[in-house]
Amino acid sequence: MTVSLDAIQSPQSSAAPTTRAAEERILVLDFGSQFAQLIARRVREQHVYCEIVRHDITPEQIARHQPRGLILSGGPSSVYEDGAPRCHPGIFELGIPILGICYGMQLICDSLGSKVANAQAREYGRAHVKVTQRDPFFDGVPDATEVWMSHGDQVQEITGEFVALARTETCPLAAVKHSRLPVYGIQFHPEVTHTPYGKTLLKNFLFQVCGCRGEWKLSNFAEEAIASIRQRVAGDRVICGLSGGVDSAVVAAMLYRAIGDQLSCIMVDNGLLRKSELDSVKHEFSRHFKTDLHVVDGEQRFLGALAGVTDPQEKRRRIGRIFIECFQDEAKKIQGARYLAQGTLYPDVIESGAAPDGPAATIKLHHNVGGLPKELGFELIEPLRDLFKDEVRQLGSNLGLPDSIVWRHPFPGPGLAVRCLGEVTKAKLDVLREADAIVLEEVHAAGLYRETSQLFAVLLPVQSVGVMGDARTYENTVVIRCVNTDDFMTADWSRLPHELLAKMSTRIINEVNGVNRVCYDISSKPPATIEWE
Ligand code: XMP
Repeated sequence: MTVSLDAIQSPQSSAAPTTRAAEERILVLDFGSQFAQLIARRVREQHVYCEIVRHDITPEQIARHQPRGLILSGGPSSVYEDGAPRCHPGIFELGIPILGICYGMQLICDSLGSKVANAQAREYGRAHVKVTQRDPFFDGVPDATEVWMSHGDQVQEITGEFVALARTETCPLAAVKHSRLPVYGIQFHPEVTHTPYGKTLLKNFLFQVCGCRGEWKLSNFAEEAIASIRQRVAGDRVICGLSGGVDSAVVAAMLYRAIGDQLSCIMVDNGLLRKSELDSVKHEFSRHFKTDLHVVDGEQRFLGALAGVTDPQEKRRRIGRIFIECFQDEAKKIQGARYLAQGTLYPDVIESGAAPDGPAATIKLHHNVGGLPKELGFELIEPLRDLFKDEVRQLGSNLGLPDSIVWRHPFPGPGLAVRCLGEVTKAKLDVLREADAIVLEEVHAAGLYRETSQLFAVLLPVQSVGVMGDARTYENTVVIRCVNTDDFMTADWSRLPHELLAKMSTRIINEVNGVNRVCYDISSKPPATIEWE
């Protein structure tokens, strides 16, 4: 099918390209902190490019990145324990400004001769910090302010080469600075919103200590990426898998800008999509792109492979395998395709340990990469592999994609199969699709879609007794799952208004045959996950 689009802005409509994008770079050395990504995002919010690297990166590797500064993240270890992750001692001799956060501060102090020990009073949560020595690092920060702490260890004594800058009631060395080297340490977390002046402190480090100018812009990044795709692909053809989600749509939009109709897109209909999803993707695609779209009807194949399977992991495995087969069969029909474009994001790269100098196995392997194997024989193009999700959304907006795509909630690769518990059948999927459509319709009608991060229905293989009219019923249960999250690694259940939940419940029970009970999932992640399987 060939369709048209003109809403994607022309290259001239964005800010002038510059080659400065990554000239200023900060490296976050990851010691296993759950906040390493958040630190990197906070730095990028200040228009300074930032990457996460392994904690044991060598000074030579660092020099190759030419960073303006290093941030040593927090981490769960104790510096005085055997096997605790350490940085290369040579990094302190590079003359590059360093900021240590929590474990990072303890490591700096320990490496440079100070004493770290288990704190008598551990601090978790809010603490009141008092600035005891003014320094440019504390510019714009009041003498007394709140910070967020999460530590069991702390620096107990500093050598004469360190200066104490701030304290809390139980932590006499809450911030320190080296007197000779451009090295700072803070025991609290400036990257979390619970530290109200955290942003100011990070800005001070970037601009006052590291001398950054803050010239990194997403628009520059996009222009450079588009130009480099154009150059790399030259006259060849690129295949892009479309899922209907924001990531693949942004990849397609960038490629379209770069190479126009040398792009072919493939969308696999696995029969596990939401109600009307395929039509809406085709509709949006046709409004926004004037290039080749192949829709593969794979419903029978997928449902056939899922027949009788109840184990969640086995479902995922089979879906992944059939997806690759369908994709591969269709790709063979596209003449002259050399490249395959994927919407791999930066968190996918660092979580899978695939980044050069990346923190490898320190972060759990997450199952949302949805990647196609290299054995497909294509060269990969992954234009989003340096970006976070919120940056991808911004980029999508800059590229002219509509809000309906840019702000779409994520939808998992295995689709409704992981929301239809137990064996997946067409009949069950149809029930689930109807219930799910009502949930979405109602949240849109209440104007709350953008306020929530992910919302869907789950169908349980559980029957319960009910009464409808005067008759006894014995039917299925639907669960409504709605979460709020920044990064999908942790999430809290959304406090949806009771009236909205009541409306969803009434409509589902009245309108969806086979459902007589609706529950609302009030578990956060962790310990639950967002999806039920
Ligand atoms: P969990 O359930 O692990 O999900 O809390 C976190 C986020 O990832 C999405 N998800 C997936 N996305 N393939 C995907 O493309 C998958 O196999 C997959 N599993 C979970 C989930 O919807 C949520 O946004």
